[in-house]
Amino acid sequence: MSRFLTRGGVFGNPSSITHRFGNAAREAVDRARGQVAALIGATPGEIVWTSGATESINLAIKGIMLSSSVPGRHLVVTAVEHKATLDAAGWLGSSGFDVSIVAPDPGGRITAKRIQRAIREDTALVSLMHVNNELGTVTDVGSIARVLQDAGVLFHVDAAQSAARLALDVSRLGVDLLSVSAHKMYGPKGIGALFVRRGLQAALVPQVHGGGQEAGLRPGTLPTHQIAGMGEAASLVAQHREEDRARIAELDDCLLRHLTRIPGSVVNGSRRDRIPGILNVAFAGVTAESLMVALGDVAISNGSACTTATLEPSHVLLALGMSRARAFASLRFSIGRFTTRAEIDLAGARVREAVSSLRSLAA
Ligand SMILES: Cc1ncc(COP(=O)(O)O)c(C=O)c1O
Repeated sequence: MSRFLTRGGVFGNPSSITHRFGNAAREAVDRARGQVAALIGATPGEIVWTSGATESINLAIKGIMLSSSVPGRHLVVTAVEHKATLDAAGWLGSSGFDVSIVAPDPGGRITAKRIQRAIREDTALVSLMHVNNELGTVTDVGSIARVLQDAGVLFHVDAAQSAARLALDVSRLGVDLLSVSAHKMYGPKGIGALFVRRGLQAALVPQVHGGGQEAGLRPGTLPTHQIAGMGEAASLVAQHREEDRARIAELDDCLLRHLTRIPGSVVNGSRRDRIPGILNVAFAGVTAESLMVALGDVAISNGSACTTATLEPSHVLLALGMSRARAFASLRFSIGRFTTRAEIDLAGARVREAVSSLRSLAA
């Protein structure tokens, strides 16, 4: 990435193709576009650069709902979506569109049947996530795509959490739009992409207006260094996904053993339809907030990083029908490519100690 930030490197504007500096930058952007496309089974022309999954999601949802070429004013999302989706849907709702919010089952799962029940004659788009960022639950997007194809409804998938972890093939899955984010695949923050199926691009209404970059769908000078970083991250994911998956699954097993041995602990969400690496656990009788303080330098959270500043319990946990008390007693553990067994053992031991000392204080 730093090569694209220095005078001695490739510092041209990728849209300035009248000179070799711009052309060198354009080549880097094209290469990265190919790397991201390859990761999700798309063609390079179907990738639109954005500033991250939040922007991709906004472009997908508002871009379709506001389109005069897509019939219907009804949008379907789910109650366990990231705030980017829920807030975009909320904005559309307050702008005169009809929005249905599908509830998950008590395990946090969104089934094709639940989506089928929610769609109507005038449904234009269904938008939901592939892997939930707080629970790790995986949605069978392939079977939902089949239902929607039969009904002639467009389908957007938020793949921010799954792109680095599950093999994705947009053409095989049959999705129309798919959002990804570089920082969820060990790339830089502030860059993402939206896959827009060929044939649908002309219908999508841009949410930013300006120059003609990205076929006018997302104008603005392209950040070559960010894009090159995302491309490289995507290519590393493609090379290491299987080995990461196996290692993370082992560490997840180990963390699960540590945490479930603590009396009064309960795993939130389905244990079966969950991707290893995201683990949400409630510890009866303690609050996540006091537990996080007691854990000190164990990097842990009580929800999504975007909403941890709020004092409200997680909307995802509440959507599962759990009490506010249990939601407030829940912590989310994440394991990544660089987590070690020693760190898992240390975290497990520290959580055990902290839970027991907080409970004895309260007794
Ligand atoms: C499932 C999901 N969707 C969307 C986002 C937003 O992505 P970004 O931070 O790239 O805007 C995140 C995480 O931040 C996420 O976990």
